[in-house]
Amino acid sequence: MEQNTSSQKDTAPSLTGRAVGEFSLIDGKATAATIKAEIKQEVENIVAAGGKRPHLAAILVGHDGGSETYVNNKVRACEECGFRSTLLRFEDDLSEADLLAEVARLNADADIDGFIVQLPLPRHIDEQKVIEAIDYRKDVDGFHPINVGRMAIGLPAFVSATPKGILELLRRYGVATSGKKCVILGRSNIVGKPLSQLMMQKGVDATVTVCHSRSTTLKEECRAADIIIAAIGQPAFVTADMVKPGAVIIDVGTTRVKDASRARGWRLQGDVDFQAVAPIASQITPVPGGVGPMTICMLMQNTLAAARHEYYN
Ligand code: GUN
Repeated sequence: MEQNTSSQKDTAPSLTGRAVGEFSLIDGKATAATIKAEIKQEVENIVAAGGKRPHLAAILVGHDGGSETYVNNKVRACEECGFRSTLLRFEDDLSEADLLAEVARLNADADIDGFIVQLPLPRHIDEQKVIEAIDYRKDVDGFHPINVGRMAIGLPAFVSATPKGILELLRRYGVATSGKKCVILGRSNIVGKPLSQLMMQKGVDATVTVCHSRSTTLKEECRAADIIIAAIGQPAFVTADMVKPGAVIIDVGTTRVKDASRARGWRLQGDVDFQAVAPIASQITPVPGGVGPMTICMLMQNTLAAARHEYYN
């Protein structure tokens, strides 16, 4: 499908057979819209056959601006996919015990197919304890250790939405991964670690290197990479000198940086210096409009899978 047509051309030839400066955008926004339409169609088929609309619940504690935006986007995506959604909001003085009671209530509610607890949580609440309290069969974020472990050994499981979205982009854009050298920057539980497992699994078959803040050969690893996936949360960290001509670049970063030229005073900056790197890359995701929209879309896919009991009874 969406092989992107927005390539930028220059006339100078290069050793890779592409013109220098010619690259294709990997358009996450358009891909996510296509997938959401596919999901909506499936939901309408289920409902027409007498089945139940998938129902996602989200718990949001406090008033973190970024979290509020994410959760609102998730609720909107539910509407776009024909799902029901329930947003449960609490003040940031909610006790850990009360949050755990809320999780237990959602675990037991047969009408809720899947739910998420938006992170980060206030500091007085133990995030890991909350994640482990979620019934793994409703853990559409894929954060529960049972889902993480099952994914790692290739069993059916809910997979964390950002890594899942990246794989879907690579697949839909026909990016060759078998035997390719993939360098992942970042080792978070939500992105870097699960992505490293997924990129090396059978059928994807990349040779994976994970670099992080203590890596001493990060630049050299990047320069040798066919695919770089940047998920370190450092604005414009990946520069042109770190990229091999023709590499595929996936940018997970979304840092708000000051920008006086914007009415709101900030813009989203990825982990990649897009202007400098794009002309060297063969394919690249923009920020915004790359990985971000895919993340929410994969949460919708996981919710549909939960409603259908695809992974668990
Ligand atoms: N905070 C940032 N990303 C996520 C996510 O994917 N899920 C949840 N629950 N919280 C987040």
